Amino acid sequence: MVAPTYHLACGIFDDAGFAGRLRAFPEDEEGIDLEVLEAKIRELEDEKPNKPQAQPFKDAGEHRKFYRHVIYVVPTCSNPSGKTMSVRRREGLVRLARKYDALVICDDVYDLLQWPLAKNANGASLRSDESPEMTLPRLCDIDLAMDRDPKDPKGFGFAVSNGSFSKMAGPGMRTGWLEGSPAFAFGLAQTASSKSGGAPSQFSAAVLSDLVHSGALQDYLASTVRPGLQRRHRLLVDAIHEHLSPQGVTIREAGLVDGHVYGGYFVWLKLPQGLSAKLVADVSLIEENLIVGNGNMFQVHGDEKTVNLDGAIRVTFAYVPEDELVEGVRRLAAVTQRVKADPTRYENLATTVSDAAMIDSSK
Ligand SMILES: Cc1ncc(COP(=O)(O)O)c(C=O)c1O
Repeated sequence: MVAPTYHLACGIFDDAGFAGRLRAFPEDEEGIDLEVLEAKIRELEDEKPNKPQAQPFKDAGEHRKFYRHVIYVVPTCSNPSGKTMSVRRREGLVRLARKYDALVICDDVYDLLQWPLAKNANGASLRSDESPEMTLPRLCDIDLAMDRDPKDPKGFGFAVSNGSFSKMAGPGMRTGWLEGSPAFAFGLAQTASSKSGGAPSQFSAAVLSDLVHSGALQDYLASTVRPGLQRRHRLLVDAIHEHLSPQGVTIREAGLVDGHVYGGYFVWLKLPQGLSAKLVADVSLIEENLIVGNGNMFQVHGDEKTVNLDGAIRVTFAYVPEDELVEGVRRLAAVTQRVKADPTRYENLATTVSDAAMIDSSK
């Protein structure tokens, strides 16, 4: 799992039988660090060499495939870092997955929630259809465009993408989709519960089908959701520049390095050297009634040593009313200022508040 990771995915992998077996690999400015990822995979391969006598404990059957590894990433508008992975890295990751017989699970829930930031050479705002950054190929597209790998004779592929209507139609719309090779999709559809009852959320899926076919969902995204997020993002970023940048806090301006597009729900604040995110988050809650996500929350369960995340804080522009966004940044700036000015006064506070209380209130 990439670190920082979408924290709630850890529990999902734990529940699915991966508890105690999760490993973290870091991001760099372009997306994920492929060298460290490869080194981590090699470590695992060395721990468990592919002995011929090692039998899988269940039969994959005709329509499924067992992979040696699973790689979890949020390639576009990542939660929490806001980063978008470059095409070069996307290709590199697919090649790596093919080399080590891994399945890349791409949590692509923010793909359709992007907006152009910048103006073009004439000073006009870019239209979304003028921005190739908003239509970067998904990893499963890249994989499917490559020749079939000899390790995968039935064509299951090495990358799948999951999307969610909860981010587009509303959080209660518990329906999503998976995109991958025909063989993978068919295999997934063979789950006994789907065969028994159809889609897991058939009623919402039927409502959504109407909304998509009539174009109503697309209109809603274009007229309401994206402009709303764009406005909120601008408000938050302007407030950060005004109140936090003077204190040495830095942010990523665009999803891609030197890009012109932002998206998703989150901004990742890098604190000045020496300031603990855990401490700042605790003081924010206690003294300012302000909830922010301290970087440590986004560690991969069981592998917290690989990446240090205590220097970063995640904030969201998608949740609270617009006027509270600016007020929240003001309060956060007041906290960072106080903690920087008198660190010893706050030293003992860092261990008194549990992370769990904070995680609950915003995904
Ligand atoms: C990266 C990522 N994946 C998945 C989810 C959960 O999506 P849903 O609410 O549709 O289950 C979230 C929600 O915040 C997310 O940020």
